[in-house]
Amino acid sequence: MMLPKLLSVFFLPLVCVHFLVLDGTNAQALQVGFYKSKCPSFEAIVRNTTASFISRAPSLAPALLRMHFHDCFVRGCDGSVLINTTSSNQAEKDAIPNQTLRGFHVIDAVKSAVEKQCPDLVSCADIVALVARDAVTLINGPSWSVPLGRRDGRVSRSSEALANLPPPFANITQLKASFRSKGLNDTDLAVLSGGHTIGISHCASFSNRLYNFTGRGDTDPSLDPNYIVQLKRKCSPTDATSIVEMDPGSAKIFDTSYYTIVKKRRGLFEADAALLNDNVTSAYVQQQANSSGTNFFNDFAVSMVKMGNIGVLTGNRGEIRKICSVIN
Ligand code: HEM
Ligand SMILES: *[C@@H]1O[C@H](CO)[C@@H](O)[C@H](O)[C@H]1NC(C)=O
Ligand SMILES: *[C@@H]1O[C@H](CO)[C@@H](O)[C@H](O)[C@H]1NC(C)=O
Ligand SMILES: *[C@@H]1O[C@H](CO)[C@@H](O)[C@H](O)[C@H]1NC(C)=O
Ligand SMILES: *[C@@H]1O[C@H](CO)[C@@H](O)[C@H](O)[C@H]1NC(C)=O
Ligand SMILES: *[C@@H]1O[C@H](CO)[C@@H](O)[C@H](O)[C@H]1NC(C)=O
Ligand SMILES: *[C@@H]1O[C@H](CO)[C@@H](O)[C@H](O)[C@H]1NC(C)=O
Ligand SMILES: *[C@@H]1O[C@H](CO)[C@@H](O)[C@H](O)[C@H]1NC(C)=O
Ligand SMILES: *[C@@H]1O[C@H](CO)[C@@H](O)[C@H](O)[C@H]1NC(C)=O
Repeated sequence: MMLPKLLSVFFLPLVCVHFLVLDGTNAQALQVGFYKSKCPSFEAIVRNTTASFISRAPSLAPALLRMHFHDCFVRGCDGSVLINTTSSNQAEKDAIPNQTLRGFHVIDAVKSAVEKQCPDLVSCADIVALVARDAVTLINGPSWSVPLGRRDGRVSRSSEALANLPPPFANITQLKASFRSKGLNDTDLAVLSGGHTIGISHCASFSNRLYNFTGRGDTDPSLDPNYIVQLKRKCSPTDATSIVEMDPGSAKIFDTSYYTIVKKRRGLFEADAALLNDNVTSAYVQQQANSSGTNFFNDFAVSMVKMGNIGVLTGNRGEIRKICSVIN
């Protein structure tokens, strides 16, 4: 006990000095209420605009949650997911597979509404983070205070999206490594995977599990065989357009039923099933499935704030984009 304390007494001041010298303008942390004095209506504008879309099309809520995840895992939460491809740059949006992201028009509408009240002040990255929170809350999921003050990045490369977003066929070792490389631990992995309690997937994201899993015309042994029969009815081997709910029957409701289906070996992706292959993530699944665990809503809120901190640009770094899909 003594040694770490002693070490930290000596070590911490060094770290701080180092930071001040190298990074004086950029060391700010995100803050809840960052825009309160300069743009008091910001959070209300975001909530109202998001609500107007989600009340008409509730299926946008999962899309907007996923967008924040895809933003944060590629170059940090810097709005780079929003940038359009140009003649000289293939952007994240066009990664192959291009992520089947939806809801960019919601972000654009929020940005226009915010710019009218508070021009050149609020980043697109902050809008993505806040819209994701509001989307979840609006469908009766958890709520949390979103630390703000992110700035927008100027780089978006499709190759980085491919390299940084875990694929649906990732195994547990790869998932843990991916999350750890972003400062998220195995609990965060189990908790944030619970985002799959809402929303849809295209057949192509999992149909290898139904047909020709290892190249011998076989199926994935970790997927419930009865469920395979049902999924095959919805997805032919080459189906590129059909969609299925990830948490069937409960795909519009933010609840713990994701963990129930994973426990029943009905998680849609190999990456969902993989949570059963590690003690920490598996225990989380079991406990949520049998309602003996921690409060999922609280856990999700905590892990979302952690995710929202990945690689953020603050201070003078980056820019405040005028149009979210185009670098200034
Ligand atoms: C752990 C690694 C993850 C993998 C491998 C993964 C993979 C996927 C895939 C393949 C889809 C379906 C895309 C399609 O075919 O349309 C999807 C959808 C979705 N993911 Fe994930 N995901 C992961 C983590 C997360 C996280 C951390 C969140 C948010 C907290 C999230 C939220 C969602 C949501 C809400 C959808 C539904 C989107 C919609 O309805 O349009 N995912 N994910
Ligand atoms: C948001 O909507 C509420 C209720 O419709 C309204 O009272 C409020 O003025 C709106 N706020 C903003 C900033 O648009
Ligand atoms: C970005 O691309 C989208 C989809 O192709 C398009 O609708 C939008 O107008 C583009 N944004 C700008 C500013 O050109
Ligand atoms: C992804 O590419 C497909 C065609 O390849 C296109 O229809 C779709 O609009 C693209 N999505 C995004 C988000 O760019
Ligand atoms: C996970 O996948 C990697 C890469 O394909 C492989 O090297 C590793 O052995 C796999 N680990 C497990 C536990 O399946
Ligand atoms: C992950 O981090 C959280 C704090 O954010 C902590 O409560 C939890 O115990 C950690 N989990 C693991 C497996 O280290
Ligand atoms: C299954 O995969 C193997 C190996 O990739 C391939 O040779 C075979 O043609 C595939 N079968 C079908 C029905 O797609
Ligand atoms: C996981 O739990 C099993 C059974 O309780 C135990 O044998 C194994 O050592 C544990 N693995 C790790 C990595 O803790
Ligand atoms: C719920 O899961 C936990 C963790 O696996 C286990 O210890 C507990 O006995 C289970 N409770 C019930 C009621 O199944």
